[in-house]
Amino acid sequence: MAEIILSLSDVTKIYGKGETEVIALKDIDLVFEQGEFAAVVGPSGSGKTTLLNIIGCLDSPTRGELSWRGAPMKSMNRTQLAAYRRTHVSFVFQSYNLIPVLTVVENVEMPLLIEGMHDRAAIRERALSIVEMVGLSDKANRYPTELSGGQEQRVAIARALVKKPSIVLADEPTANLDSHTAGEIIKLMREINEKTQTTFLFSTHDPRIMELAQRVITLRDGQIERDERGRHESLEQRTLQDRRKKCTAAQTENPHHRNRAHGRHCRFHHVPVALGGDGQSHDRCRDRLRQQFDKPAIQRIS
Ligand SMILES: Nc1ncnc2c1ncn2[C@@H]1O[C@H](COP(=O)(O)OP(=O)(O)OP(=O)(O)O)[C@@H](O)[C@H]1O
Ligand SMILES: [Mg+2]
Repeated sequence: MAEIILSLSDVTKIYGKGETEVIALKDIDLVFEQGEFAAVVGPSGSGKTTLLNIIGCLDSPTRGELSWRGAPMKSMNRTQLAAYRRTHVSFVFQSYNLIPVLTVVENVEMPLLIEGMHDRAAIRERALSIVEMVGLSDKANRYPTELSGGQEQRVAIARALVKKPSIVLADEPTANLDSHTAGEIIKLMREINEKTQTTFLFSTHDPRIMELAQRVITLRDGQIERDERGRHESLEQRTLQDRRKKCTAAQTENPHHRNRAHGRHCRFHHVPVALGGDGQSHDRCRDRLRQQFDKPAIQRIS
C-alpha cells in the first residue's frame, strides 16, 4: 500500500450564518495515498470546489481535521502551513490563469522564483524540462495569447508541476475545452501521474473524463455519496480496453468481417478477429485503430 499523504476527518464547511447559512461540506472523511489519480464529481453546488480549496488551504474547515503525512494541520504554525502550500500542493484552474506578458517558459518558472530559487540557469533548465514533458518545447518562447486553450492548460499543468509537488489540485481543468482536447489533457495528467507518482485530484462534470480516473469520489449536498476505487489501473490498460471495444465494433460493423469470421486472434488487439483471405480486412482494422489510439498525448516524458 502506498503512503497516506493526506487525510480528512469529519470535515464540515459552513458558509454564512442563520438564514443565509449554507452547509457546503458535511462530515467528510477521506484518505489519499501518494500517486492516486482521483476525480471529484457531483452536481453544481455539491461542494467540489470547497473540498479542493480546503485541501489546498485556500479555505479552512468550520469543523474537522486535515492531516498531512500524519501531522494535524491545526497544529501547524503559519510558517509550516505556508510551506505546505508552497511546496506540497499546486493548483490548476479552469481558466488557466497564465500571466499574459510572460512567455510559456517564464510562466512555468514563476513558482520557482516565488519559492526563492536564485540560480537562473537551473531555473530555466528545470522549467524547460517540464515544458518538454507537456509536449510544448516548440512553444517555449511564445506568449499565452499565441496558444490554443489546450496548450494554455498544458502550460498551467507544467507550472503546477515545476516545483515537484506531492499533490496537484485541479478544479474543472477541462471545462473550457472541447471534449477531444479535454480527453488529451486528462490523459496527459494521467501519464505524468503514472510517471512521477504525483497525486492528482481534479473535479469535473464530464462523464467521459470521469472514466479516465482511477478513483471517483461523488459528492451530493456536501456529503460523499460514493467513493469508487480501482476503476482503471493504468492508462495502458484503459487503452487496451478501448482497443478491444473498437475491434469488436469493427467486426460487427463490417459484413466482410462478420461473414468470414474464423476466430483467429488479432495480435494487435488481443481479441478474436475475422481475417479476409488476403488479410486486407485485418490491415484496415489495424490501421484504423492505430490512428485512433496510438497518438501519444505527449511526445516524451523525461
Ligand atoms: N464563499 C461562499 N459563500 C457562501 N456560500 C458559498 C461560498 N462558496 C460556496 N458556497 C456555497 O457552497 C456550496 C458548495 O459550493 P461549491 O462551489 O463548492 O460547489 P461546486 O460543486 O464546486 O459547484 P460547481 O459545479 O457549480 O462549481 C454551494 O451551495 C455554494 O453556493
Ligand atoms: Mg466548483
